[in-house]
Amino acid sequence: MNLENLKSIFKGIFNADPLIVRSPGRINIIGEHTDYNEGFVMPAAIDKAIYVGISKRDDHEVHLFSEGYQQLDVSSIKDLKKSENDWANYILGVADQIQKRGYSLGGFNFYIDGNVPLGAGLSSSAAVECATGYALDQLFNLEIPKMDIALIGQKAEHTFAGVNCGIMDQFASVFGKKDHAVMLDCRSMKYIYIPLKLDGYKLVLLNTNVKHSLADSAYNKRRASCEQGVAWVKEAYPSVNSLRDVDLAMLEQYVKPKDLDVYNKCRFVIEEIERLLTAAEQLKNGNLDGLGQLMYQTHHGLSVDYEVSCAELDFLVDSVKELDYVLGARMMGGGFGGCTINIVRDEKIDDLIENLSSRYEEKFGLSLAAYVVTTDQGTSVIS
Ligand code: GLA
Repeated sequence: MNLENLKSIFKGIFNADPLIVRSPGRINIIGEHTDYNEGFVMPAAIDKAIYVGISKRDDHEVHLFSEGYQQLDVSSIKDLKKSENDWANYILGVADQIQKRGYSLGGFNFYIDGNVPLGAGLSSSAAVECATGYALDQLFNLEIPKMDIALIGQKAEHTFAGVNCGIMDQFASVFGKKDHAVMLDCRSMKYIYIPLKLDGYKLVLLNTNVKHSLADSAYNKRRASCEQGVAWVKEAYPSVNSLRDVDLAMLEQYVKPKDLDVYNKCRFVIEEIERLLTAAEQLKNGNLDGLGQLMYQTHHGLSVDYEVSCAELDFLVDSVKELDYVLGARMMGGGFGGCTINIVRDEKIDDLIENLSSRYEEKFGLSLAAYVVTTDQGTSVIS
């Protein structure tokens, strides 16, 4: 991202000098669909980010300009509601949540650009939300705690975007750290950084370039299945509040006889929480082989039990499974499209991408995009 360019575009549109905030997209090493079940996740922020320029206005108007859409969206800070421009809602939703928490905002000019691919499961929307929250915090000196920036972003996603997401994406965008994954306990909200030492290997994302339309509704449905499972166990164990408190024996006894599908969904989550804890040990011990095997297991569970994969994702994972230079691979994020994450030996990356791209195109008539990503720092002011 060229900062000078961003500044001069901002000046051209708003005739003012901006404060500039960067907030990254994220990957997740392991721990999928566990965040909204009070489990653990292990994301990392990446070197693809959203950039926001912001300045105060003398009136109460909110002027948003999107570089990608080449659109201006105008509203009033006194009367925030959903816009018909979808891209603007992630920004307006955050401003709305900030005000709902009792902070006061004035009118502002806002410019947004970035290089997080959209719809690729790299949490471009969380990056927009966190960039917005932090930019408003800095511009109006609100002193919002960093964890609240993430929580505000999540709430904005629920209210203005209609996806009942967990906290992983916004948390990763705010708290990411270069060369580290961050392991978050989504119940206590305590986290530790784990060095990501990939000697001789790199993280390669393979983007299916599909986002099947059922993604958002299926996500909300999976959440409901997990809640149903918890409710059934809770009848016998009143202290149980989430799948974090449930073990396989409880599921077997109280959920399986009632609904096999709900049972399968809950079982995946409980197993995934366990898998993440093992993976954290493997990573700390530098056992990338072990970590990779767990990633394959996660993919299998997401595909067969949790049923959030799709033919494109399964094809990509199946195609690398037998290759000795790919240590692990799995679909990443909510599912039904987006990227797979792969741990690939350095010198084999180009061959792999070339080989898979042609096979993928042949099979699905779609082009495959590949990104070799590195981890990076979380949300920050850059100018
Ligand atoms: C999406 C959500 C996250 C998380 C993942 C699945 O990315 O936004 O909160 O639930 O799916 O792990």
